[in-house]
Amino acid sequence: MFDRDQIASVSGYIVKNLEPSDFADLMHLEEEVFGAEGESTLGPYYVRLCCDFFGQHCFLCLHDGKPVGYLLSFVREREAYCTTLAVVPEFQGTRTVHLLLRAFVSSIADRVDSCWFTVKEDNKAARALHASLGATEMGVRTGFYGPDDERIVSKIDAVAFAKLRSRYERLGLLERRSRPAAVAVSYEATV
Ligand SMILES: CC(C)(COP(=O)(O)OP(=O)(O)OC[C@H]1O[C@@H](n2cnc3c(N)ncnc32)[C@H](O)[C@@H]1OP(=O)(O)O)[C@@H](O)C(=O)NCCC(=O)NCCS
Repeated sequence: MFDRDQIASVSGYIVKNLEPSDFADLMHLEEEVFGAEGESTLGPYYVRLCCDFFGQHCFLCLHDGKPVGYLLSFVREREAYCTTLAVVPEFQGTRTVHLLLRAFVSSIADRVDSCWFTVKEDNKAARALHASLGATEMGVRTGFYGPDDERIVSKIDAVAFAKLRSRYERLGLLERRSRPAAVAVSYEATV
């Protein structure tokens, strides 16, 4: 089970909630993953907010103490929006991304009923990951981060999110929810 601040420690990997002291690592990772590909990077105001105010649902993955991936997300009422998922090139194709997603899903499982993602059409790995969580592609938003920017918007809806939660329960990654009272009553009545 994952707790805030100390999330997961698996053979050299640690996934933790973001905290103020992670600011410089995040800025560096943005450059390493997105800047190196010629993509725009997040500005310091945004990253500072994630580290200082939204760390409850934002995660950093370290391998042997080295930052290797991160996930940024925001929760509003019963919805989550995962805005960034990134792994440094040398750790792509490893368990890093799965550990980050596991920490994220565990953190929102009892807080929300659905979750949004946005992704570029050609980002097959990210689209495959979203689909593996049960997300459905809902459409394309044009002019998303600028006039020529286009993003696919996908969503884990309430039905898919309930399935995802059940999967996490079966895997022992989340506590099982107690039976609803109505179900318990009807069960007793049939015994
Ligand atoms: C997106 C990202 C986080 C994925 O992490 P990763 O470690 O590269 O992911 P993996 O290699 O484990 O691939 C994830 C899944 O996608 C599948 N996949 C990868 N490339 C694929 C492709 N070209 N076509 C179809 N499926 C693909 C993999 O098979 C894997 O599924 P599996 O676990 O069932 O085998 C990582 O590539 C990254 O940081 N990219 C740059 C930043 C970015 O684009 N982030 C997403 C938008 S914010």
